[in-house]
Amino acid sequence: MKEGILAVSFGTSHQETREKNIGAIERELAAAFPPFAVRRAFTSGMILNILRKRDGIQIDNVPQALERMLEDGFRRLVIQPTHVINGEEYDKLRELASPYLGKFDRAVFGAPLLTTTEDYRQVAGAVGEWFSPDPKEALVLMGHGTAHHANSAYPAMDYVFKELGWKNIFVGTVEGYPEIDTVLRQVQELGCTRVTLAPLMLVAGDHAMNDMQGDEEDSWKNRFAREGFQVTCVAQGLGEIPAIRRLYVAHAAEAIAQLDQDGQENR
Ligand code: CO
Repeated sequence: MKEGILAVSFGTSHQETREKNIGAIERELAAAFPPFAVRRAFTSGMILNILRKRDGIQIDNVPQALERMLEDGFRRLVIQPTHVINGEEYDKLRELASPYLGKFDRAVFGAPLLTTTEDYRQVAGAVGEWFSPDPKEALVLMGHGTAHHANSAYPAMDYVFKELGWKNIFVGTVEGYPEIDTVLRQVQELGCTRVTLAPLMLVAGDHAMNDMQGDEEDSWKNRFAREGFQVTCVAQGLGEIPAIRRLYVAHAAEAIAQLDQDGQENR
């Protein structure tokens, strides 16, 4: 019986970060679960358009990918998002996929990166150890942020870093809460002079290039620099951290375990 994993990402138009993050996760999923063929879908229509028109790269959206998997005879399906939070993009994915699920013998969803409390601890551990900021410097992570109720994942992440002993790791967002002003004030209260900025996003795409380390007056780099901090920017997606990739693989493993459970409806 043909089994597949559809790895679903928001997508990015930046080729290098796409391969280092999304591509790396897909390759590890393929290596971890040999009977499963891993396929790619992106949810951002804007990104898919740019890739098609500018780069001549054709990537499926979710309905296209699922149609093709049905045509190609896949009977058991895991849909594994690479999304960070259970937010708007994940909701959209579930909605887009729902008409197709009943057409497979079994179809289940894997969880986004930040789902259970244990996920938060694992992510904080992975990111904290990866950067290991000196006690005299602050690490400020740029989350995306959203108007969706799942935005509370970002202040929760900030809290978990502190719980695990990293008083100098902070989480801010571009489009939600906490805002950069709040984080800036907290970093000032910490009394350090050096700050490292890095994305709390799967890829280092437009937000990392522009909002984080861009030359605009209100980029985070310039906001901190104007307050006298010595700023270092690390344009690297979360998917470049091996322990983060392992967490996505673990989420897919949990979904695969559900495939074999009886009496459970498609979910
Ligand atoms: Co955005």
